Order: sequence, then C-alpha cells, then structure tokens
Amino acid sequence: MSEADEPIHALLADLSQLPADGTLVDLGCGAGPTLTAVSRRHPRARLVGLDRSAAALSTARTRLTRHGRGVQLVQADLRRSLPLAGGCADAVVSYNVLECLTDPAELVREAVRLLKAEGTLVLAHVDFDSIMVAGPPADLDRRVCHAFTDDRQPWMDHANGRIGRALPGLVGAAGLTLQRTETLTTASTVLTGHPERRLADMRRALLGSAARGTTTVTAAEVTDWHAGVQAAARDGRFFFSETVVVAVGR
Ligand SMILES: C[S@@+](CC[C@H](N)C(=O)[O-])C[C@H]1O[C@@H](n2cnc3c(N)ncnc32)[C@H](O)[C@@H]1O
Repeated sequence: MSEADEPIHALLADLSQLPADGTLVDLGCGAGPTLTAVSRRHPRARLVGLDRSAAALSTARTRLTRHGRGVQLVQADLRRSLPLAGGCADAVVSYNVLECLTDPAELVREAVRLLKAEGTLVLAHVDFDSIMVAGPPADLDRRVCHAFTDDRQPWMDHANGRIGRALPGLVGAAGLTLQRTETLTTASTVLTGHPERRLADMRRALLGSAARGTTTVTAAEVTDWHAGVQAAARDGRFFFSETVVVAVGR
C-alpha cells in the first residue's frame, strides 16, 4: 500500500465535506498524499497545496498531473502570513504538520482566514505518544518511543509529538465550532507497509539525533530496540499501533 492509499487520507478527504467543484487547501501538503485522495473523490475540485519543501512539492506535482482541474502547489513558510486570499477555500486540511510549528495556533488562525463562511477545517495529527510496539524489552521500548515523541529533526522548527490530543482545543480557540472529533488507529501484527515505514523512520531519526547529541537515547539503544522489533516480527510476537486524532471545525 502506498502512502496515498493509507486510510487516513481518504478519511480527511471525506471529512472535508468539499463541494464537487469547491476549493481545498492543504497546509503542509508534503508529497501530496491527502491531495491525491481528494483528487480521487473530487476530480472537479480546485486543489491548493502549500509546503516549504521544493522536493516534496515536485513529487506532489507529478502525482497530481492527471487531476481534472486546477492544481496550485506553492512553496511557502507556514510560520508567515499565507500567500492566499481570505475566503478562498471551501475546506482547509492539515495533516502531521502542526507539531513542527512553534506557534500552531497562529497557523490555525490563518487557516480560518482562508475559509469561506460555511467552510470546513480538518486538522489531523498522529499523537506520537500513542505508539505501541511489542517486541523490544519494555523499559527500552518506553525510552525509545518517548524519545521519538520529543525528537526534533533538523527540518522541524519545533517538536510537540503530543499535539494530536491538543487539536480539538486549537479548533475551538480559533473561534470555530468543533463539529467532530475522530480517532483513527492503525494496528498491525506484521512488519510491512505503514508499521515498517514508521519504525524505520523512528530508527533513522533517533540515530541521527543520537549522533548530534540531541536525544535522550544512545545509538546502541536505538539499534537494540529495532533489532527487538525485527526479532518479534520473525517469531510472531510483533504488534504495532498508532492513533491519529482528527478535529473538524466549521
Ligand atoms: C510529516 S510531513 C507531512 C506532509 C503531508 N501532510 C503528509 O501527510 O504526508 C510535514 C510537512 O510539513 C512541512 N513543513 C514543516 N514546517 C513547515 C513550515 N514552517 N512551512 C511550510 N512547510 C512546513 C514539511 O516540509 C513537510 O512536508
């Protein structure tokens, strides 16, 4: 299953309540998995994606070449005023971005500025403290998972890995009515697809942070933890789950 096929992106597309020919803005669209899911459901929608990574925007552009209507992918820093007119969007979505921002409430206020009067805001984030892994020894696993929750990678301005649980409050604080709060839990007993990508990403991120001296775990601990994951996957003890929190405001 590719990243764009993961159920969260289809859920975000559905919760956006986008009119068939409406405009959807994705703040921190990355390589475009959510925009791709929206494109599949709404081929006549206007899609706008903002991100500061030129490489990610280039991948998103390739993924969306066959979209039936206008696609606007803009390189922008989400810490600044967004380069879009107020009231331009029927829906604004943002997935796994707010943890990187020192002032997430400011971006949520900007998102509200972009919305039309009856528009929908969909904020979603993995709450990284929700990650459960069976395999490595418990104490080591706790240390590594908590270190990942608090880890700030060089491409991030900030790290708040527990922001998932704060999303409903952020929607209310921006003056919208909180319409729905959902959670989506991914659970698996096999080390393929999303669990494999997430656990490899945790290993890679924490090894980098250990080398820079910016995390609480050592490279040896990270390596032992990942070996424990792989051993469990080989002998049938493996389990992985993580939970995304989704808050919908109108
Ligand atoms: C974890 S990725 C999520 C991307 C996408 N929403 C997805 O579901 O795959 C976080 C994204 O936020 C972007 N980002 C982080 N801080 C940013 C900032 N200050 N301005 C613009 N984009 C930013 C990164 O470039 C990256 O593409």
